[in-house]
Amino acid sequence: MTHVVSDSAVTQAPPAEAFPTYPVSWYLFGDARELRNGPVTKELLGRSIVGFRTATGRLGVMDARCSHLRANLGNGCVIGETIQCPYHHWRYGVTGRCVHIPHVEEVPAFARQRSYPVVERHGLVFFFNGPEPLFPLPFFADAEPAEFVRARPFGLVLDCPWWMVGANACDLQHFLGAHDRKLCGPAHVETPSPYARHASAPFAVVGHSLRDDFTRWFGGNVVTLSIADWCGTLMFVTARFRRTCSYGMLTSLPLGRDRVFVRGIVFVRRSRNAIGRQLIDPIHLRVRRFFIKEFLRPDAELATRGLLYRPESLLACDEEMARYFAWLAKASANAVGAGAGAAWTAG
Ligand code: FES
Ligand SMILES: [Fe+2]
Repeated sequence: MTHVVSDSAVTQAPPAEAFPTYPVSWYLFGDARELRNGPVTKELLGRSIVGFRTATGRLGVMDARCSHLRANLGNGCVIGETIQCPYHHWRYGVTGRCVHIPHVEEVPAFARQRSYPVVERHGLVFFFNGPEPLFPLPFFADAEPAEFVRARPFGLVLDCPWWMVGANACDLQHFLGAHDRKLCGPAHVETPSPYARHASAPFAVVGHSLRDDFTRWFGGNVVTLSIADWCGTLMFVTARFRRTCSYGMLTSLPLGRDRVFVRGIVFVRRSRNAIGRQLIDPIHLRVRRFFIKEFLRPDAELATRGLLYRPESLLACDEEMARYFAWLAKASANAVGAGAGAAWTAG
Protein backbone atom coordinates (compact mmCIF):
# COMPACT_ATOMS: atom_id res chain seq x y z
CA MET A 1 0.00 0.00 0.00
CA THR A 2 1.35 3.43 -0.94
CA HIS A 3 1.03 6.36 1.40
CA VAL A 4 1.12 9.81 -0.14
CA VAL A 5 2.59 12.33 2.26
CA SER A 6 1.46 15.88 1.49
CA ASP A 7 3.20 19.04 2.52
CA SER A 8 1.69 21.20 5.21
CA ALA A 9 -0.24 24.31 4.24
CA VAL A 10 2.09 27.22 3.47
CA THR A 11 0.09 29.58 5.65
CA GLN A 12 0.23 28.83 9.34
CA ALA A 13 -3.30 28.68 10.74
CA PRO A 14 -3.46 30.38 14.15
CA PRO A 15 -3.97 28.53 17.43
CA ALA A 16 -7.55 28.28 18.75
CA GLU A 17 -6.72 30.88 21.44
CA ALA A 18 -6.35 33.49 18.69
CA PHE A 19 -10.14 33.52 18.25
CA PRO A 20 -12.30 35.41 20.78
CA THR A 21 -15.28 33.54 22.23
CA TYR A 22 -17.73 36.24 21.11
CA PRO A 23 -16.37 38.19 18.14
CA VAL A 24 -17.51 41.75 17.65
CA SER A 25 -19.94 41.72 14.76
CA TRP A 26 -23.64 41.99 13.90
CA TYR A 27 -25.94 39.38 15.42
CA LEU A 28 -29.56 38.46 14.95
CA PHE A 29 -31.57 39.27 18.08
CA GLY A 30 -34.79 37.82 16.65
CA ASP A 31 -38.02 38.52 14.85
CA ALA A 32 -39.27 42.06 15.37
CA ARG A 33 -42.75 40.65 16.10
CA GLU A 34 -41.45 39.18 19.36
CA LEU A 35 -41.30 42.71 20.74
CA ARG A 36 -44.95 43.52 20.07
CA ASN A 37 -46.06 42.67 23.59
CA GLY A 38 -43.25 44.31 25.51
CA PRO A 39 -39.58 43.76 26.30
CA VAL A 40 -37.94 40.37 25.74
CA THR A 41 -34.74 39.15 27.38
CA LYS A 42 -32.51 36.55 25.73
CA GLU A 43 -29.30 34.85 26.78
CA LEU A 44 -26.91 35.82 23.98
CA LEU A 45 -23.12 36.03 23.78
CA GLY A 46 -22.76 34.96 27.41
CA ARG A 47 -24.97 37.82 28.66
CA SER A 48 -28.61 38.65 29.26
CA ILE A 49 -29.71 41.09 26.57
CA VAL A 50 -33.11 42.78 26.39
CA GLY A 51 -34.85 44.10 23.29
CA PHE A 52 -37.82 46.46 23.29
CA ARG A 53 -39.75 48.86 21.10
CA THR A 54 -40.73 52.27 22.38
CA ALA A 55 -44.11 53.97 21.97
CA THR A 56 -42.91 55.79 18.84
CA GLY A 57 -41.42 52.61 17.36
CA ARG A 58 -37.72 53.04 18.18
CA LEU A 59 -35.83 49.87 18.99
CA GLY A 60 -33.59 49.40 22.02
CA VAL A 61 -31.20 46.49 22.63
CA MET A 62 -29.19 46.62 25.86
CA ASP A 63 -27.88 44.59 28.76
CA ALA A 64 -30.89 43.24 30.61
CA ARG A 65 -29.53 43.32 34.16
CA CYS A 66 -30.49 46.63 35.76
CA SER A 67 -27.61 48.85 36.88
CA HIS A 68 -29.35 49.27 40.27
CA LEU A 69 -29.75 45.74 41.72
CA ARG A 70 -29.61 43.61 38.57
CA ALA A 71 -33.30 42.90 38.16
CA ASN A 72 -34.20 41.66 34.69
CA LEU A 73 -35.49 44.51 32.54
CA GLY A 74 -37.22 41.93 30.34
CA ASN A 75 -39.75 41.55 33.17
CA GLY A 76 -40.42 45.28 33.09
CA CYS A 77 -42.46 47.29 30.63
CA VAL A 78 -42.20 50.05 28.09
CA ILE A 79 -43.24 53.52 29.25
CA GLY A 80 -43.19 56.02 26.40
CA GLU A 81 -39.62 56.12 25.06
CA THR A 82 -38.15 54.14 27.94
CA ILE A 83 -37.99 50.66 29.42
CA GLN A 84 -38.94 50.52 33.08
CA CYS A 85 -37.31 48.11 35.53
CA PRO A 86 -39.87 45.93 37.33
CA TYR A 87 -38.16 46.32 40.73
CA HIS A 88 -37.81 50.04 41.62
CA HIS A 89 -39.06 51.55 38.37
CA TRP A 90 -35.85 53.11 37.12
CA ARG A 91 -36.37 54.02 33.47
CA TYR A 92 -33.83 53.76 30.66
CA GLY A 93 -33.89 55.30 27.19
CA VAL A 94 -32.76 53.38 24.08
CA THR A 95 -29.21 54.71 24.52
CA GLY A 96 -29.05 52.88 27.86
CA ARG A 97 -29.01 56.08 29.93
CA CYS A 98 -31.26 56.12 32.98
CA VAL A 99 -33.60 59.09 32.63
CA HIS A 100 -35.82 58.67 35.66
CA ILE A 101 -35.53 57.34 39.21
CA PRO A 102 -38.62 57.70 41.41
CA HIS A 103 -38.13 60.23 44.25
CA VAL A 104 -34.57 61.07 43.11
CA GLU A 105 -33.67 64.42 41.54
CA GLU A 106 -30.27 63.65 40.10
CA VAL A 107 -29.62 60.41 38.22
CA PRO A 108 -26.15 59.08 39.16
CA ALA A 109 -23.59 58.42 36.41
CA PHE A 110 -23.49 54.67 37.05
CA ALA A 111 -27.20 54.39 36.28
CA ARG A 112 -26.91 53.26 32.70
CA GLN A 113 -27.06 50.07 30.70
CA ARG A 114 -24.62 48.97 28.05
CA SER A 115 -26.61 49.44 24.85
CA TYR A 116 -25.99 48.03 21.40
CA PRO A 117 -26.36 49.59 17.94
CA VAL A 118 -29.50 48.11 16.40
CA VAL A 119 -30.93 47.78 12.89
CA GLU A 120 -34.32 46.42 11.82
CA ARG A 121 -34.36 44.82 8.40
CA HIS A 122 -36.78 42.41 6.73
CA GLY A 123 -38.72 42.24 9.99
CA LEU A 124 -35.64 41.05 11.89
CA VAL A 125 -33.74 42.83 14.64
CA PHE A 126 -29.95 42.85 14.39
CA PHE A 127 -27.58 44.30 16.98
CA PHE A 128 -23.88 45.04 16.94
CA ASN A 129 -21.74 43.64 19.73
CA GLY A 130 -19.76 46.83 20.34
CA PRO A 131 -20.27 50.52 21.15
CA GLU A 132 -20.24 51.56 17.49
CA PRO A 133 -20.62 49.37 14.42
CA LEU A 134 -17.24 48.65 12.81
CA PHE A 135 -19.13 48.22 9.54
CA PRO A 136 -22.76 48.80 8.50
CA LEU A 137 -25.09 45.80 8.60
CA PRO A 138 -24.11 44.11 5.34
CA PHE A 139 -26.27 42.55 2.64
CA PHE A 140 -25.61 40.78 -0.65
CA ALA A 141 -23.12 42.83 -2.70
CA ASP A 142 -24.78 45.11 -5.26
CA ALA A 143 -28.25 44.20 -3.97
CA GLU A 144 -30.78 46.53 -2.40
CA PRO A 145 -32.39 45.02 0.75
CA ALA A 146 -35.75 46.63 -0.09
CA GLU A 147 -35.91 44.63 -3.34
CA PHE A 148 -35.80 41.30 -1.49
CA VAL A 149 -38.17 39.28 0.69
CA ARG A 150 -37.12 36.55 3.05
CA ALA A 151 -38.32 33.11 4.07
CA ARG A 152 -38.79 31.86 7.62
CA PRO A 153 -35.30 31.28 9.10
CA PHE A 154 -34.13 27.74 9.80
CA GLY A 155 -31.57 27.00 12.48
CA LEU A 156 -29.37 24.37 14.01
CA VAL A 157 -26.93 24.08 16.90
CA LEU A 158 -23.58 22.77 15.69
CA ASP A 159 -20.99 21.11 17.90
CA CYS A 160 -18.01 23.02 16.62
CA PRO A 161 -16.28 26.36 17.25
CA TRP A 162 -17.91 29.36 15.56
CA TRP A 163 -14.86 29.95 13.36
CA MET A 164 -15.38 26.58 11.64
CA VAL A 165 -18.67 27.72 10.05
CA GLY A 166 -17.20 30.14 7.50
CA ALA A 167 -14.22 27.86 6.89
CA ASN A 168 -16.61 25.41 5.28
CA ALA A 169 -17.00 27.70 2.28
CA CYS A 170 -13.22 27.90 1.70
CA ASP A 171 -12.84 24.18 2.09
CA LEU A 172 -12.68 23.45 -1.65
CA GLN A 173 -11.90 19.79 -0.95
CA HIS A 174 -15.28 19.09 0.65
CA PHE A 175 -17.60 20.30 -2.12
CA LEU A 176 -17.37 17.10 -4.16
CA GLY A 177 -17.68 14.70 -1.23
CA ALA A 178 -20.38 16.54 0.69
CA HIS A 179 -22.31 18.46 -1.96
CA ASP A 180 -21.81 16.76 -5.37
CA ARG A 181 -20.24 19.93 -6.74
CA LYS A 182 -16.98 19.52 -8.68
CA LEU A 183 -14.61 22.46 -8.88
CA CYS A 184 -14.29 23.37 -12.57
CA GLY A 185 -12.30 26.60 -12.60
CA PRO A 186 -10.07 28.81 -10.47
CA ALA A 187 -11.25 30.16 -7.11
CA HIS A 188 -11.06 33.92 -6.53
CA VAL A 189 -10.52 35.30 -3.06
CA GLU A 190 -10.30 38.94 -2.02
CA THR A 191 -10.43 40.92 1.20
CA PRO A 192 -12.24 44.18 0.43
CA SER A 193 -12.22 45.33 4.07
CA PRO A 194 -10.45 44.13 7.23
CA TYR A 195 -13.77 42.57 8.29
CA ALA A 196 -14.92 41.01 5.03
CA ARG A 197 -13.66 38.27 2.81
CA HIS A 198 -15.11 37.34 -0.57
CA ALA A 199 -14.54 33.99 -2.20
CA SER A 200 -16.05 32.55 -5.37
CA ALA A 201 -15.51 29.53 -7.57
CA PRO A 202 -17.33 27.68 -10.38
CA PHE A 203 -18.58 24.14 -9.78
CA ALA A 204 -20.18 21.52 -12.02
CA VAL A 205 -23.41 20.03 -10.65
CA VAL A 206 -22.49 16.32 -10.74
CA GLY A 207 -24.97 14.65 -8.34
CA HIS A 208 -27.51 12.00 -9.38
CA SER A 209 -30.29 12.93 -6.98
CA LEU A 210 -33.64 14.17 -8.21
CA ARG A 211 -32.80 17.49 -6.66
CA ASP A 212 -29.65 17.82 -8.78
CA ASP A 213 -31.51 16.65 -11.91
CA PHE A 214 -33.99 19.43 -11.28
CA THR A 215 -31.18 21.92 -10.56
CA ARG A 216 -29.49 21.13 -13.90
CA TRP A 217 -32.79 21.33 -15.77
CA PHE A 218 -33.89 24.55 -14.11
CA GLY A 219 -30.60 26.39 -13.59
CA GLY A 220 -27.89 24.80 -15.71
CA ASN A 221 -24.89 22.46 -15.30
CA VAL A 222 -22.51 24.94 -13.73
CA VAL A 223 -22.93 27.11 -10.66
CA THR A 224 -20.69 29.89 -9.39
CA LEU A 225 -20.79 29.87 -5.61
CA SER A 226 -19.83 33.16 -3.99
CA ILE A 227 -19.60 33.95 -0.32
CA ALA A 228 -19.07 37.24 1.45
CA ASP A 229 -18.00 36.48 5.00
CA TRP A 230 -18.17 39.24 7.63
CA CYS A 231 -16.13 38.52 10.77
CA GLY A 232 -17.00 34.81 10.47
CA THR A 233 -20.49 35.34 11.88
CA LEU A 234 -22.45 36.69 8.91
CA MET A 235 -22.25 35.13 5.48
CA PHE A 236 -23.98 36.05 2.27
CA VAL A 237 -23.97 33.20 -0.20
CA THR A 238 -25.08 33.41 -3.81
CA ALA A 239 -25.35 30.46 -6.16
CA ARG A 240 -25.37 31.86 -9.68
CA PHE A 241 -26.53 29.50 -12.42
CA ARG A 242 -26.86 30.30 -16.10
CA ARG A 243 -30.60 30.82 -15.74
CA THR A 244 -31.12 31.74 -12.10
CA CYS A 245 -29.52 32.86 -8.84
CA SER A 246 -30.14 31.77 -5.22
CA TYR A 247 -29.54 34.00 -2.21
CA GLY A 248 -28.89 32.63 1.26
CA MET A 249 -27.63 34.31 4.40
CA LEU A 250 -26.08 32.50 7.36
CA THR A 251 -25.89 34.16 10.72
CA SER A 252 -24.15 32.49 13.63
CA LEU A 253 -24.26 32.99 17.34
CA PRO A 254 -21.44 31.42 19.36
CA LEU A 255 -22.67 29.43 22.37
CA GLY A 256 -19.29 29.35 24.09
CA ARG A 257 -16.16 27.99 22.40
CA ASP A 258 -17.36 24.64 21.12
CA ARG A 259 -20.94 25.21 20.02
CA VAL A 260 -22.59 27.62 17.67
CA PHE A 261 -26.19 28.32 16.72
CA VAL A 262 -26.44 28.91 12.98
CA ARG A 263 -29.50 30.28 11.26
CA GLY A 264 -30.11 30.30 7.54
CA ILE A 265 -32.30 32.92 5.88
CA VAL A 266 -33.25 32.54 2.24
CA PHE A 267 -34.11 35.58 0.10
CA VAL A 268 -35.73 36.07 -3.28
CA ARG A 269 -36.20 39.17 -5.36
CA ARG A 270 -39.57 40.71 -4.62
CA SER A 271 -42.10 40.58 -7.46
CA ARG A 272 -42.85 43.90 -9.07
CA ASN A 273 -46.62 43.71 -8.85
CA ALA A 274 -49.06 43.00 -6.03
CA ILE A 275 -50.31 39.69 -7.46
CA GLY A 276 -46.76 38.38 -7.76
CA ARG A 277 -46.06 39.41 -4.18
CA GLN A 278 -49.19 37.70 -2.90
CA LEU A 279 -49.06 34.52 -4.95
CA ILE A 280 -45.64 33.90 -6.47
CA ASP A 281 -43.18 35.15 -3.87
CA PRO A 282 -44.35 32.81 -1.06
CA ILE A 283 -44.05 29.74 -3.34
CA HIS A 284 -40.74 30.93 -4.72
CA LEU A 285 -39.43 31.34 -1.17
CA ARG A 286 -40.58 27.87 -0.12
CA VAL A 287 -38.91 26.19 -3.07
CA ARG A 288 -35.62 28.05 -2.65
CA ARG A 289 -35.65 27.44 1.09
CA PHE A 290 -36.08 23.70 0.51
CA PHE A 291 -33.22 23.51 -1.99
CA ILE A 292 -30.80 25.58 0.06
CA LYS A 293 -31.60 23.73 3.28
CA GLU A 294 -31.05 20.40 1.54
CA PHE A 295 -27.80 21.65 0.02
CA LEU A 296 -26.53 22.52 3.51
CA ARG A 297 -27.70 19.26 5.11
CA PRO A 298 -24.35 17.41 4.74
CA ASP A 299 -22.50 20.31 6.40
CA ALA A 300 -25.02 20.36 9.21
CA GLU A 301 -24.78 16.61 9.78
CA LEU A 302 -20.99 16.67 9.88
CA ALA A 303 -20.87 19.65 12.20
CA THR A 304 -23.57 18.44 14.59
CA ARG A 305 -21.49 15.31 15.11
CA GLY A 306 -18.57 17.47 16.19
CA LEU A 307 -15.83 19.02 14.08
CA LEU A 308 -12.49 19.87 15.60
CA TYR A 309 -10.24 22.81 14.86
CA ARG A 310 -6.80 21.34 14.32
CA PRO A 311 -4.53 23.93 12.70
CA GLU A 312 -1.55 21.57 12.76
CA SER A 313 -3.35 19.08 10.53
CA LEU A 314 -3.95 21.40 7.57
CA LEU A 315 -2.15 20.27 4.43
CA ALA A 316 -1.13 22.05 1.23
CA CYS A 317 -4.54 21.23 -0.29
CA ASP A 318 -6.13 23.06 2.69
CA GLU A 319 -4.18 26.24 1.95
CA GLU A 320 -7.29 28.34 1.28
CA MET A 321 -8.75 27.27 4.63
CA ALA A 322 -5.50 28.04 6.44
CA ARG A 323 -5.53 31.52 4.88
CA TYR A 324 -9.14 31.97 5.94
CA PHE A 325 -8.32 31.16 9.57
CA ALA A 326 -5.33 33.51 9.49
CA TRP A 327 -7.54 36.33 8.14
CA LEU A 328 -10.37 35.63 10.57
CA ALA A 329 -8.16 35.53 13.66
CA LYS A 330 -6.85 38.95 12.66
CA ALA A 331 -10.30 40.35 11.82
CA SER A 332 -11.79 39.22 15.10
CA ALA A 333 -8.76 40.38 17.09
CA ASN A 334 -9.11 43.84 15.51
CA ALA A 335 -12.77 43.79 16.26
CA VAL A 336 -12.29 42.94 19.91
CA GLY A 337 -9.72 45.68 20.34
CA ALA A 338 -12.11 48.26 18.94
CA GLY A 339 -15.23 46.87 20.57
CA ALA A 340 -13.88 46.65 24.09
CA GLY A 341 -12.88 50.32 23.99
CA ALA A 342 -13.32 52.82 26.77
CA ALA A 343 -16.38 54.36 25.12
CA TRP A 344 -18.45 51.33 25.95
CA THR A 345 -17.35 50.71 29.49
CA ALA A 346 -17.27 54.34 30.57
CA GLY A 347 -20.02 55.66 28.31
S1 FES B 1 -33.18 46.72 40.33
FE1 FES B 1 -33.86 47.92 38.66
S2 FES B 1 -34.65 49.65 39.58
FE2 FES B 1 -33.87 48.51 41.22
FE1 LIG C 1 -20.37 22.78 2.75
